[in-house]
Amino acid sequence: MVNFLSKEELNLSNEFLKNGYLIKKIKDDKSLDFIKKLFLKIIKKKKEFKYLKDIEIFDQTHKYIKKNDLNDFRLNIINELNNNKFFRKNYFQCSKFLLDLIVGNELVMQKKINLSIQLPNDSSSLLDVHADVWSGDSPYEAVMWMPLVDCFKTKSMYILPFSKYKKYENNLFSKKIKNSQNLFDKIKKDVHWLDVKFGEILIFNQCLPHGNIVNKTKETRWSMNCRFKSVYSPYADKKIGEFFEPISLKSISRSAIKYSFPKIK
Ligand SMILES: [Fe+2]
Repeated sequence: MVNFLSKEELNLSNEFLKNGYLIKKIKDDKSLDFIKKLFLKIIKKKKEFKYLKDIEIFDQTHKYIKKNDLNDFRLNIINELNNNKFFRKNYFQCSKFLLDLIVGNELVMQKKINLSIQLPNDSSSLLDVHADVWSGDSPYEAVMWMPLVDCFKTKSMYILPFSKYKKYENNLFSKKIKNSQNLFDKIKKDVHWLDVKFGEILIFNQCLPHGNIVNKTKETRWSMNCRFKSVYSPYADKKIGEFFEPISLKSISRSAIKYSFPKIK
């Protein structure tokens, strides 16, 4: 296949194809800082958090929020984040250097960014092993996953790298696999636990099996996730206008959309 990418771009592309993910340091410090400050502004409205240090607010959340209150707390933050008109733009700016290389430069972005908060030893909000494409996502969608804390081992997520996926591709599901725990047991020796620090961003291929298990560390995980795809690539259940919104249409596309042939009288 002809490929005119630079050597550095080719290396990163091949790494993504081999593993199904890339973890890289965010280059746009200003956008990252904007996101962190926005979180702090929202969270500190709650009196329990008002005078805490950043590390206590994020890594030690479980000391200040009860398990039963977690979902309301999370949904309230998601709404406030997404009501800020600069939030998604800053998230995109943090992701752009990897999207340019892996996905494209005329993109659609998920309208609402998701937030996940995993308290230690909490089994109430787990994502069992799955691939988004199995439940109706387009294989052209990539997920950008950004943590607000350092994530490692069970505080993070796992993915089955593409190089290992190949050996399961034709026998992933069988009569022996009755539930997602059976499926996880089958692949767990080959999954990668992703070590993603605050200040880094993860892009992954949601066609590969991934998920998380109970956070067995002593720290709370905070991470955001958002889907992007090339605007002209095939769509599945998640449609443009409903779920996705164009964010970087180029001039030729903008003029082409409006173009009509001259009329002949
Ligand atoms: Fe997923």
